Amino acid sequence: MKKKLLALLLTLTMALSLAACGGGEDAAEEPAGDEGTTNEEAAGGETSGDLINIGFAQVGHESDWRAASTNSAYEVFSEENGYNLSFSDADNDQAVQIQAVRTFIQQGMDYIIIDPITATGWDAVLTECEDAGIPVFIIDRTVDDSDKYVSWVGSDFTTEGKACGEWLKAYAEAKGITEINALVIEGSTGASATIGRTEGFKEVADREGWTILDSQNGDFTEAGGQEVMESYCQSYDGQFNVVICQNDNEAYGAMTAMDAAGVTYGVDGDVIIVSFDSNKPAVQHVLEGNMNATFECNPMAAPFVDEVIKQLEAGETPEKEIYMEESWFAAEDIVSEITVNGEAMPVIHVTQEVLDARPY
Ligand code: AHR
Repeated sequence: MKKKLLALLLTLTMALSLAACGGGEDAAEEPAGDEGTTNEEAAGGETSGDLINIGFAQVGHESDWRAASTNSAYEVFSEENGYNLSFSDADNDQAVQIQAVRTFIQQGMDYIIIDPITATGWDAVLTECEDAGIPVFIIDRTVDDSDKYVSWVGSDFTTEGKACGEWLKAYAEAKGITEINALVIEGSTGASATIGRTEGFKEVADREGWTILDSQNGDFTEAGGQEVMESYCQSYDGQFNVVICQNDNEAYGAMTAMDAAGVTYGVDGDVIIVSFDSNKPAVQHVLEGNMNATFECNPMAAPFVDEVIKQLEAGETPEKEIYMEESWFAAEDIVSEITVNGEAMPVIHVTQEVLDARPY
């Protein structure tokens, strides 16, 4: 009852602020897609009266990072913790993800979590959630064309990209490398993680006069990273000395491609290779010197959403934007600090102890 009242109040607040802003229509049309599979559908699609019913529209299962995010949601939104979680894996298809949200609305969820595959195309379905009085939380990636959600919890992707650039600048100086010819393997097109990391790195590259030879979509997958790197090895043979992979899995694929092409990389190689995410296997590669650095993207948003729900249920107003803490990891103890956005940030030299302490 309290929850319904809260939802109603939220709806009214969102409706009033929308009216004040003049509202806005979502230009994107979503084709009718497969709804995806939810655990609750597999179990009969039932919502529970005693527990908090929460639907999670996840991006997919493209990376180790994604698995960590999903596992964290299952741990936090467990029956033990008072939740009944319905999970949907959209397999990187936004139409499927939007349909999953609509299914959650029909099922009468108390709350909905969305990790938006792309940054745009959300206002229509978020309006439907608002009309149904269901509070929505956005995690990880951002929604850029609507503010009809309670809170967003995630990472500052542009800062991640800048941190990568600032580390590379300091590292190259320390190593006496005077010319940077970089190849970028991007994440999925239209994802805010891709947009932010690309822009952040490019800002430093432009400032420093580096050459970005090419920047292509590896879709945040190992297979995608390998495919792009295979083509780069042919097209830019002998011309590049840096590979920026926008996630760990792409880096694993890129290393396989460079092995096959006879290109050496990492601490003792000809090519500097870095990634984003900092999952344990990537940090292990950094420890072994196969990769030079990895820049963390924190997948543990679920505990923050749980906290926000508790705040809502206590009648409090949560923060609209919640940034999670992240660290930067490097193989060599050469650059211990970088300045990003005017703030001094430590770079962690990876030791066995650091690797053992990684939570995912
Ligand atoms: O949105 C976060 C990104 O998506 C992670 O970097 C990547 O691994 C995932 O697929």
